[in-house]
Amino acid sequence: MSGDARDVAVEDLAELDAVLELKRLAAEIAKHDRAYHQKDAPLISDAEYDALRARNDAIEARFPHLVRADSPSRRVGAPVAEGFAKVTHARPMLSLGNVFSDAELADFLDGIRRFLKELRDDPAIPVEMTSEPKIDGLSISLRYQDGRLATGATRGDGAVGEDVTANLRTVADIPETISGAPAVLEVRGEVYMRKADFAALNAAQADAGAKVFANPRNAAAGSLRQLDSNITARRPLSFFAYAWGDVSETAWDSQWGFLERLRGWGFPVNPESRLCRGLDDLLAHYNAINAGRMDLPYDIDGMVYKVNRLDWQQRLGFVSRAPRWAIAHKFPAERVQTRLNAISIQVGRTGTLTPVAELEPVTVGGVVVSRATLHNADQIAALDVRVGDTVVVQRAGDVIPQVVEVVRDDGHDARPAFEFPGECPICGSKAMREPGEAATRCTGGLICPAQAVERLKHFVSRDAFDIEGLGGKHVGNFYHDGLIRTPADIFRLGGRAAEIAEREGWGEKSVEKLIDALDERRRIPLERFIYALGIRQVGQATARLLAKTYGDLAAWRAAMAAAADPDSDAYAELTNIDGIGPAVAEDLVAFHAEPHNREVLDDLAALLDVIPFEAPADTGSPIAGKTVVFTGTLEAMTRGEAKARAEALGAKVAGSVSRKTDYVVAGPGAGSKEKKARELGLTVLTEDEWLELIGG
Ligand code: IVH
Repeated sequence: MSGDARDVAVEDLAELDAVLELKRLAAEIAKHDRAYHQKDAPLISDAEYDALRARNDAIEARFPHLVRADSPSRRVGAPVAEGFAKVTHARPMLSLGNVFSDAELADFLDGIRRFLKELRDDPAIPVEMTSEPKIDGLSISLRYQDGRLATGATRGDGAVGEDVTANLRTVADIPETISGAPAVLEVRGEVYMRKADFAALNAAQADAGAKVFANPRNAAAGSLRQLDSNITARRPLSFFAYAWGDVSETAWDSQWGFLERLRGWGFPVNPESRLCRGLDDLLAHYNAINAGRMDLPYDIDGMVYKVNRLDWQQRLGFVSRAPRWAIAHKFPAERVQTRLNAISIQVGRTGTLTPVAELEPVTVGGVVVSRATLHNADQIAALDVRVGDTVVVQRAGDVIPQVVEVVRDDGHDARPAFEFPGECPICGSKAMREPGEAATRCTGGLICPAQAVERLKHFVSRDAFDIEGLGGKHVGNFYHDGLIRTPADIFRLGGRAAEIAEREGWGEKSVEKLIDALDERRRIPLERFIYALGIRQVGQATARLLAKTYGDLAAWRAAMAAAADPDSDAYAELTNIDGIGPAVAEDLVAFHAEPHNREVLDDLAALLDVIPFEAPADTGSPIAGKTVVFTGTLEAMTRGEAKARAEALGAKVAGSVSRKTDYVVAGPGAGSKEKKARELGLTVLTEDEWLELIGG
């Protein structure tokens, strides 16, 4: 080969070089497939991987007679795994918000005090909280019926998990029968592996030439998710219980009381748990545990604090999917030094160019890290980070690893500063930075394959369509091979079953499963649907607000089209949603104004059954489905609690009065809003009348 064929443009490749280049690409892509699918440890960015495949495809297109038997274009990543049965959790398994500092914790506690009126008005009333180590394992739910373990399930997406009952029965810490418990009792907790057990397991695995695990958490997960429970039985798993789900009767009135019950029923409860009073007490416990955590026999990644009183927990309720009455306080992230080998650029689904540090692999917090985010051009400039520097990398919990610092050495000044590209590395379109924005974006829009692929990946991701057996890699491969271009194509894959079955890693059975999985997702709740579209700035919480406000797909689309006129009622209604401001409104309007997006929506609407937002209308409350505005001072509860209660009963709470408002609750000091309500002839209630209406 003359020189290095990898640097030669496809159209300039001589045939002999093309042979060698295809061979090299086949080996290289196979290596990355193994790293991604079998080791869960990708070595390169998705964009780089996609670029390798694109190059392979382009060479094959020019020299079709050179396509190799083992060509990556004939293969997709990994076979679809046979799964466990699904279990719908009787009560969803929620997640927790995080705080990382004392100040954030103080804010969280203040939030509780501001929410509950008696605490706001009397700073002397203490808030007791339990403080429990946050075990780094997998959360599970155990359902006991009449004192006998009936089902055990993983968390899954929180709503639906996997049935791992047979495997959980092999865990010695989990009692098969309990006495003195309610007829139905779901106990939730964490399956984990002790450090010593992990070390012994890995030593045995290594001896046997079997897979060794990166950390105890992965070992616990890998052991629990075995289809053969005989294998799980041989793995040293442990369990701590800490919460409940569905119960037929709640015979405790505090978290601490519940932990005591758990102990009485024979569940292991973490012995480091304490009942604390106020910020200082919590911090003292946190610091003590953090100082000694290396000596604990298991990994923990922080503390979990929960309001002890159950009645307060109930009143505090939830903000989207996390409780207002509990929080995880993470331990400081581990930091390590390593060398920066290169800076690559990833293109995201909204076209943002993200610089990625390609690092000499290092272990941080039990995970091998070879890439870390550098965020944007400003961050690179602020750190003055240059290829070849030694850098400090930090990884906090599930947060993406970050480069936080450069360790200055003698060579630094001589190294060239990084030049942020002026064009998209994937499609070559101009990359621009809007004034006042940190992000540099590819202007290629729909022609940029990176954006298209990332959007499709988002569309099928866990919180969106969550299509089983169709992972990000498959989406990338299907896209490159022309099987899918737009989201709707995904739901037409059934028509190409024969073609897919021919692909390596697929067979008739796995294709059948994929088609079943697709059919299962043809019915989708509006909020998930909106989230799946990947509109800029529209995350899960915003998608939910939109679904709740507009109810069904057609109404939402009509409203977004009408909101293009900033003087319209539709625009006013949109920006009047608590949590949606002009910036988000602009992105929503822009999305709906784009003809291509409208086509995608039409297409999807024809293929899918988008379920209208299910307002908790059958709450039976007279305020279900109504729009309420609070104004003036409330006496019985804080504004926050009033809003949360109204929403729990199925009402919408708006910030300003319009013709669409059903009730205005006016306390002392109400001003222009009450006046406007009276002018419009709306129902204006006093707080007492309101409380009577909602039943206390
Ligand atoms: S309570 C609604 N308590 O942390 C409250 N979670 O970040 C639900 N975890 O999914 C969780 N130790 O897997 C709770 N003592 C503890 C915990 C704990 C570990 C995990 C659990 C949860 C995750 C949330």
